[in-house]
This record gives sequence, C-alpha cells and structure tokens, in this order.
Amino acid sequence: MALQISATNPEHPALLLELPWQTPLEQWPEEYLVPLPRGISRHVVRYARAGDEVIAVKELAERPALREYQLLRDLDRLAIPAVDALAVITGRTDAAGDALEPVLVTRHLGGSQPYRSMFETTLRPATMHRLMDALAVLLVRLHLAGFAWGDCSLSNTLFRRDAGAYAAYLVDAETGELHPRLSPGQRDYDLDLARVNISGELLDLEASGALHPSVDPVDFGTEICARYGRLWQELTRTSVYPAGKYHYIERRIRRLNDLGFDVAEMQIEHASNGDTVTFVPKVVDAGHHQRQLLRLTGLDAEENQARRLLTDLESWMATQDDYAPGDPLGARPEVLAHRWVREVFRPTVRAVPVELRGAMDPAQIYHELLEHRWYLSERAQHDIGLDTAVDDYIVTVLPRARETLRPTAD
Ligand SMILES: Nc1ncnc2c1ncn2[C@@H]1O[C@H](COP(=O)(O)OP(=O)(O)O)[C@@H](O)[C@H]1O
Ligand SMILES: [Mg+2]
Repeated sequence: MALQISATNPEHPALLLELPWQTPLEQWPEEYLVPLPRGISRHVVRYARAGDEVIAVKELAERPALREYQLLRDLDRLAIPAVDALAVITGRTDAAGDALEPVLVTRHLGGSQPYRSMFETTLRPATMHRLMDALAVLLVRLHLAGFAWGDCSLSNTLFRRDAGAYAAYLVDAETGELHPRLSPGQRDYDLDLARVNISGELLDLEASGALHPSVDPVDFGTEICARYGRLWQELTRTSVYPAGKYHYIERRIRRLNDLGFDVAEMQIEHASNGDTVTFVPKVVDAGHHQRQLLRLTGLDAEENQARRLLTDLESWMATQDDYAPGDPLGARPEVLAHRWVREVFRPTVRAVPVELRGAMDPAQIYHELLEHRWYLSERAQHDIGLDTAVDDYIVTVLPRARETLRPTAD
C-alpha cells in the first residue's frame, strides 16, 4: 500500500512528505522534532516542524484517525475552538516493508499550554477557577452545537491566555459525536464524564504535590458542573415579561452579548390574554466581541482580548475630532477603527521587541500593556500614558515573564 495523504490545505502535502513517515513516531530523529510540552495521552504524540509551521502528529488506527479528522473539520465549520486538522496519513511502511500505524496531523496550537505545564508552578486557586470557567464555556459551546465530547478532561483541553482569563480549546475529538441537537440526558452524561475526569486529574496532581493545599479535587470537579449549569441556564432559559416591556428583551440580549454570545433567532409569544410576552433566544455563536473587533479592524483576537481592545478603541474614538456617532457627516466607525489600528495599536505593539514577546500574540501584548498602564497610573494617581507604560513594561515585566515562558525539554 502506498503512502496516502488526505489533506485540507494544498500546501501541506509537499511539506508533509519531507517527514520520516517510514519511521515509527517514537523513533523520529531529533532534527524533525520540536520540544514543546505535551499533555498525557494514550497514543504516541510528537510535535514536528513542517515548513514554517509546528504540527502535532498522533499515531492511531485508520478508522479513528479519519473519524477524528472529520470531527475536527466539523468543529472548525461550527466555529468551535479546537485544533485544526491538517491531514491523515495512511499506508505507512517501515524499511522492512512492515505496516506502521496511520497518523493524524493537526496544527500545533500556538501559545497554548497543556494543563500539566501550568501546574509546574503551583497554580493559585483563582487561576484554577479561570481554567474551569474557560472549560465550562467550551463545553456549553460544544453542546449548543450538538457535539457530545465523550471524554472532556483537562488532558484533552488546551488553554491559551485570553486577556486576564483563559480560552479553552478542544484537542482530542476521538470520542466525540455530532448530533443535530443534544438531549438533556446526553448533556448530563457528558458533563458527568467531565466531572469524574477532572476530579481524577486533580487528585493525581495532588498526589504529586502539585496542587495548592486549599484546592479540593472533588469540589473542583463539582464546580465545573455548577459553572456549566449557570451558563447553560442563562443562555437558554425562557423569560416571561409584562407586555409592552420590550426593552427587557433587549436587556436580556445585551446580557447574552456581554457573556460573549450572539442571538441568532428569537421566539416571542404573546399570552392569549395579552398580559405577558414569552421570549426564548436561540443562542448560537460565542465570540460576539471577537466578531465585532474583526469587522471593525480586521484584527483576530480571543473573546476577552477583543472586549478589552474594543473598550480601548471606543475611548480613543471619542477623542477624535471627526467622531460624531449617528451624524452622517462624522467619520464611520470602521474608518476610525482603522486609524486606531494604524496610529495606536500597531505602533504600540511594535515598540515591544519581537524577541521579547515569547508566546504572546499582538492582542495579548496590547492587553498586557493596557493593564500595565492601569497599574502604573493607579500607583501614580494619574494617567501616565501608553508610551511610558510600554517603556516600563519592556524593562520591568518582560524579562521576568520570559523566564516562565521558556519551553521545557522533551
Ligand atoms: N494540535 C496540537 N497543539 C498542541 N498540543 C497538541 C496538539 N495535538 C496534541 N497535542 C498535545 O498532545 C496531547 C495528546 O493528544 P491527544 O489528542 O489527547 O492524544 P490521545 O488521543 O492519545 O489522548 C494533548 O494533551 C496535547 O497536550
Ligand atoms: Mg487525549
């Protein structure tokens, strides 16, 4: 059987062919590998270089490989944060002509960390709550899209910094199933698996002394359920308002937007006696601020980063002479937004030397600079301005941050 690649991106096959597929993944020579931290896995997983990209390669049987590939493509179509599937490679044989296991190739999720590396320094409980928040949001998004994960765990999730919080990405879709919609029973079952897995993983960390003494592994497992439940309820509950109070509906939509979700459709029913209005939103997509930022500026950021950048953009807009919202003679928001990108965002980010940026993307750097300005301004009791904040950040914060961002050896 010949080596066979089913790939999504036409540039990839050529680059992928340069990798030593005739060698079992465990024996790949170092020159191909990238020593970044990996989570716990059943299969052999390695990171390798393909052109400018870092890819993750996982050896597994053909059927599950193709299935996982397809599910990851589906999640991409549904705009759910998950790793990008690039290819499945089958028909591998070694030098003696013996068959080797197929592989699934995904794009390494830049700036992400497996949870085990985050626990190398004991995580503060507040940080752990943020991880649970991020995971609950991911699970709710998957369930809204009809995806039952079947194995939600910390090992199967990657965390990326998103302003002061985290964004969670699905990394292992092998056990997933996509349905038109999920029943409450299917959701409960999935959530229960998450609870058991997470408690187990935290118990392991506790046993190895990596857990903060105040953290109870079982309570944290339960916490993910509570967070999920609250979010699900807020996103899907039916509200009943007195007739005529339409602004209540608008208020609810705004609250959903604040949580980062958009409402695609809504069902509004008037009671037969005319006294009340029932409102059921159909919440679809997370990433409300993300989309707004993308539309206005072309910048692609995580949700919380986007929210922060939009706040900064809006307050900057108000300082512009041609800012006149609602006035046809004023500048359009898109025009002002592009000016902000050109005159504020880009020059500010560029002031931070590339070699000091570590795993941070421009949106995260800008967010950190805003935080630093706030911190210094509070201390000085007046606004110290962005330029001063940038200078101080480069000298005082970055050298320390770099220490903790260094990749660990394999
Ligand atoms: N695309 C990727 N980007 C970053 N890390 C990845 C990627 N794919 C896999 N990993 C790492 O490898 C680990 C194992 O991958 P996973 O798909 O969960 O394997 P298994 O099916 O054997 O459990 C993950 O926990 C993650 O740390
Ligand atoms: Mg896994």
